[in-house]
Amino acid sequence: MSLNVVILAAGQGKRMNSQLPKVLHPLAGKPLLAHVVAAARALSPEKIVVVIGHGGDAVRQVIAAPDIAFALQVEQRGTGHALQQALPHLAKADTTLVLFGDVPLIDPDTLRNLIKGKGVRILTALLEDPKGYGRIVRKQKQVRAIVEEKDASAAQKKIREVNTGIMALPTARLAAWLGKLKPQNAQKEYYLTDIVPLALADRVTVSGTPASDVWQTLGVNSQTQLAQLERHVQQKTAHRLLEHGVTLADPARVDVRGELICGRDVSIDIGCLFEGRVSLADEVTIGAHCVLQNIEIKAGTRIEPYSHLVDAVIGANCRIGPYARIRPGTTLADDVHIGNFVEVKASDIGAGSKASHLSYIGDSSVGRNVNVGAGTITCNYDGANKHRTVIEDDVFIGSDTQLVAPVTVHRGATIGAGATITKDVAAGELAISRAKQISIQGWKRPTKKEKP
Ligand code: UD1
Ligand code: MG
Repeated sequence: MSLNVVILAAGQGKRMNSQLPKVLHPLAGKPLLAHVVAAARALSPEKIVVVIGHGGDAVRQVIAAPDIAFALQVEQRGTGHALQQALPHLAKADTTLVLFGDVPLIDPDTLRNLIKGKGVRILTALLEDPKGYGRIVRKQKQVRAIVEEKDASAAQKKIREVNTGIMALPTARLAAWLGKLKPQNAQKEYYLTDIVPLALADRVTVSGTPASDVWQTLGVNSQTQLAQLERHVQQKTAHRLLEHGVTLADPARVDVRGELICGRDVSIDIGCLFEGRVSLADEVTIGAHCVLQNIEIKAGTRIEPYSHLVDAVIGANCRIGPYARIRPGTTLADDVHIGNFVEVKASDIGAGSKASHLSYIGDSSVGRNVNVGAGTITCNYDGANKHRTVIEDDVFIGSDTQLVAPVTVHRGATIGAGATITKDVAAGELAISRAKQISIQGWKRPTKKEKP
């Protein structure tokens, strides 16, 4: 069976009270519409058409991909009108599946089941509170119509089975049915749902299948609903991690906005945020309130509380933080120790090296078993250009040293505390740059003048 998928995403989303087009609001770190596109792709359709309108340029920019066609709906005149705009882009596939750009949690398996049948196949939901939704009107179990809240009678409003908006339709019939829609309803819109009686008149079967999991069918119309879906997704992710064997201090206080891959016996304390692709190997421990974005951490490493790591690779058995900042382009080998208030940017640090307190290491290559004393700064920026600092194996850098790049400290050299290093230091030598200490004998501290 061949398939088209049309995703309706032209609506404004007034109730979000936001400049950002509704379908671009992020859920678990990814725009709502991107979730729907992913579900569509999982079905390997002939065509994916996204109907855009409100904020269309922004939506197109974010979602554009070679396998996606965009149809512009200049004026939002209803869901039927929206689907009509997609018609010229459709392939001659048997079935056209309609999805909504603001119903992000729909699962490909649910869709696979829906598209199996024939005729008009509507995904419905049984809701405690059906208010606001189109109601599924059945006679002798057969779907006869979908009536919008605004057009429903008091009796129809009591129906709890609602239209999720997701439906599969025979492509060959679409043009004829959509051409017959009339905006004769409370909202003066071309309702896609009005094709139900048109299909029945053509003796095409119409079926309504309730979704097994209501969350999959919930739409985002407000920030409140977005927050509810976000919590639901996070809860599910946390549950998956627990099942996998990850220790979570509190499954309600971990957020994953992307992909978190964990080895065995990984432990994550409260308040941690993982973004992009993060992988934690066996026995990695993440302390409370850490933020990790696109990070790979090898086995046995501990990240202490309040550390912030972005775009970096961390070796095995390292200790990072508390209060460490690891910035993009950093690679730490095994057994590295980065302590409190240490910032590392675009630098490689070799095995067994330490920077334990209050340092900035930027654009540097640091060898093995190097000791970077407290308060050491690489002065990598001259106001116009960035330069590299090279620190070779077994170097000892005394506290409060500035290394003015470009500069190289060769293997085994020692730098005395408080140095400003502007010239290369040869292997094994001691470099000191400080004013000679003098003592003034008999010097007296000033004393306060007595007030008269
Ligand atoms: C629609 C259904 C209703 C269903 C509900 C489920 C119709 C007539 N009603 O109502 O039966 O219970 O969804 O959430 O279909 N859109 C466009 N262009 C338009 C209008 C809408 O692209 O001109 C898009 C929106 O961006 C959105 C989707 O279609 O993604 C649904 O539109 P919305 O206005 O939310 O429809 P509802 O009134 O909620
Ligand atoms: Mg809606």
